[in-house]
Amino acid sequence: MKKIVIAPSILSANFATLERDVNIVEKAGAKWIHIDVIDGHFAPNITMGPAIVKALRKTTKLFFDVHLMITSPEKYWQDFQKAGANLITFHSEVQTDKRKLIENIKTSGVKAGISIKPKTPVSDIEGLLSCLDLVLVMTVEPGFGGQPFMNDMIPKIETLRKNIDQNNYNCLIEIDGGINSQTSSICIQAGADALVSGSYIFSAENPAEAIKSLSL
Ligand code: DX5
Ligand code: ZN
Repeated sequence: MKKIVIAPSILSANFATLERDVNIVEKAGAKWIHIDVIDGHFAPNITMGPAIVKALRKTTKLFFDVHLMITSPEKYWQDFQKAGANLITFHSEVQTDKRKLIENIKTSGVKAGISIKPKTPVSDIEGLLSCLDLVLVMTVEPGFGGQPFMNDMIPKIETLRKNIDQNNYNCLIEIDGGINSQTSSICIQAGADALVSGSYIFSAENPAEAIKSLSL
């Protein structure tokens, strides 16, 4: 059975004790943390910037999965790369030369991902799969943790799985939004490789148990 990557989203952590919260999920067995960057323009929330990534980088060796929900990723991605991101994912809905941005991110030595909002079809990004390290399927509207999982996103995961396997692309499928012990197994069955989970992990009494329950 393949190993599923669990990426706790620190958007649901306590920002006053971020180092401690990251430490808890690291000790609980997580290998990645998911960092949601929202600019109040692309999506309706304002979260964190490169300074937080830089400060956290000093406290942990975890893989930093940075999800840019911002209108101009081409202007800001380098700040996150310098701050210590390991993977930078931007949105397919932004107006920029996506192929070039993917190339630039990869040339800088970090992995590159692209994300699709619930209303964006897989066909919008299929032409980019060959040069991507990861595709992130949003299963809630971007903005906030704690929203319910959108079941009708499952066919997108299945379509991507087929395409990636048929073409032997080296691209992970990550799912973000509403992941708990029930929705995680549906996603894994559909072909997910990595699962983001915020409120389910950080509101759990035992985060280690919560993390374990996601990859069963
Ligand atoms: C939503 C973010 C998600 C969010 C997931 O805009 O991209 O990463 O933190 O939170 P949960 O797991 O609570 O849905
Ligand atoms: Zn996210």
